[in-house]
Amino acid sequence: MAIKFEQVNFEYPSFDGTNFSALKDINLEIAEKGEFITLIGETGSGKSTLVQHMNALIRPTTGSVTIYGIKIEKDTKKKGKVKLNPLRQRVGLVFQFPEYQLFEETVLKDIIFGPKNFGVKESVAIERAKQVIKHVGLDEEYLKRSPFNLSGGEKKRVSIAGILAMEPDILVLDEPTSGLDPKGRDDLLKLFMGIHNDLNKTVIIITHDMNTVYKYASRVLVMNEGHLVYDGLPQELFSKENIKSWNLDIPDIITITRQLEDKLDVNFDSQPHTIQELFELVKEVI
Ligand SMILES: Nc1ncnc2c1ncn2[C@@H]1O[C@H](COP(=O)(O)OP(=O)(O)O)[C@@H](O)[C@H]1O
Ligand SMILES: [Mg+2]
Repeated sequence: MAIKFEQVNFEYPSFDGTNFSALKDINLEIAEKGEFITLIGETGSGKSTLVQHMNALIRPTTGSVTIYGIKIEKDTKKKGKVKLNPLRQRVGLVFQFPEYQLFEETVLKDIIFGPKNFGVKESVAIERAKQVIKHVGLDEEYLKRSPFNLSGGEKKRVSIAGILAMEPDILVLDEPTSGLDPKGRDDLLKLFMGIHNDLNKTVIIITHDMNTVYKYASRVLVMNEGHLVYDGLPQELFSKENIKSWNLDIPDIITITRQLEDKLDVNFDSQPHTIQELFELVKEVI
């Protein structure tokens, strides 16, 4: 098991001493290979806090997170005995807000920062930068630009490129497609799907887009008020009554299918995942 949460609680400290409990009794296992996981839940439910535990960016208040055999607990020192750098290379985390990740004067320097930090030679890192900038849908010319003069979507892509350049084993992306136009979103999802399929890597994506969840995920995690309330297949999730109390939307394809079933007064044998599959089912009954 690559990542294992055991009874993890996390509290954000506050000045008046009333600490805020953001994660409550989380137990969770993530395999190194083969998973395409979406993590969902309303804003403030603890998603970002949860993923920041996956590469020891923050440590549990109680309980432990074991990452590639290294147990991280509250008193695990940042430096010293436990080396966290290798973990940060193996579990690549793209932040929700790319501004937190970009700080160099050019996009190139930003992208090669991570690999160089983990011991990759500069010339090799530059070659990687030229590859990954294209993978995220930007032209090589962007490497010369300042990350601060880019649009929100472009910054997001550059921050993703920086993590890809580290060639992590597990890729964790905090809302990578928010704020992108539909084509940009689909292109990036195809990129993540490609990384997952071609290299058999585990990819974890935080998203609010239920269509993405339904179309791509092999496993879905739902956070609600600091609790992990669902860990399973997307198909089963959307047939649950609870999704209303968790404030989750229903994927468009499910809504359309239900409306058609009502209109046509039929019950389809299966729930289609695409418009094409729905079309085939409709053809059988009319
Ligand atoms: N640095 C912080 N200090 C105090 N509270 C925080 C901090 N970051 C997040 N929180 C609180 O913790 C809860 C979970 O936040 P977060 O993990 O960012 O949720 P999500 O990513 O699901 O929107 C929220 O109520 C948020 O206000
Ligand atoms: Mg968040």
